[in-house]
Amino acid sequence: MTTLKHIAIILDGNGRWAKAHGYPRTQGHLVGTDNVRNIAVAANDEGIKVMTVYAFSTENWKRSKDEVDYLMKLPFLFFNKFMKELMEKNIKITMIGEMEDIPKDTAKVLQKAIDQTSNNTGMILNFAMNYGSRREIINGFNKFLDEYKKDESLKLTEDNFNNYLYTNELPEVDLMIRTSGEQRISNFLLWQLAYSELMFVDVAWPEFTPKMLKECIEAFEKRDRRFGGV
Ligand code: FPP
Repeated sequence: MTTLKHIAIILDGNGRWAKAHGYPRTQGHLVGTDNVRNIAVAANDEGIKVMTVYAFSTENWKRSKDEVDYLMKLPFLFFNKFMKELMEKNIKITMIGEMEDIPKDTAKVLQKAIDQTSNNTGMILNFAMNYGSRREIINGFNKFLDEYKKDESLKLTEDNFNNYLYTNELPEVDLMIRTSGEQRISNFLLWQLAYSELMFVDVAWPEFTPKMLKECIEAFEKRDRRFGGV
């Protein structure tokens, strides 16, 4: 069993994977969605407590309407196919990001999955949906300001700022993996990744396997995390 509590993944390369195989981009997202299940099950088996996946960013609205519409269907496909198994494996679904701007029927499916799994005590599978880290930080600061207006003795500190973020109930992110070779953070968990280990793997998300996850975990265990100390 690993010491790693929270793993965060940027699911990149679905479009390129589809193109390389002569499929439409949507096929990449579909296979990528099935792979969220495969990797979540593997992470759960490894004893990981939280797996956060970047499923839809605040920037993804800029994609074509057809692609955005398809991405918004993925939660239906995912929970229709895998809810039974998620319940059997005691996996709890949570979400970070802004539910308000998500189309109503998609939001409903997400909320239903969150409610249905709320008493599960196994791994948390946390979907970053309509998520942007800068927005999360600004929202967090504004939440603090609202409280401050009522009580001017309040102080914002490095330790308490996490209480104002979407991730307030989650442990620190130990490891962030991005697939498909890009070496960017892309507005994902900017505050939370301060001391995380980062791994960039060359394969596209649909090709990322449980074995590769295991290799990342093993590499993580070998890293010497000093958190700025010596
Ligand atoms: C990035 O690949 C991937 C996405 C924008 C969406 C990923 C979402 C999933 C795989 C599943 C989410 C599941 C649920 C249940 C919501 P890309 O299209 O940017 O790839 P490219 O860089 O090769 O074009």
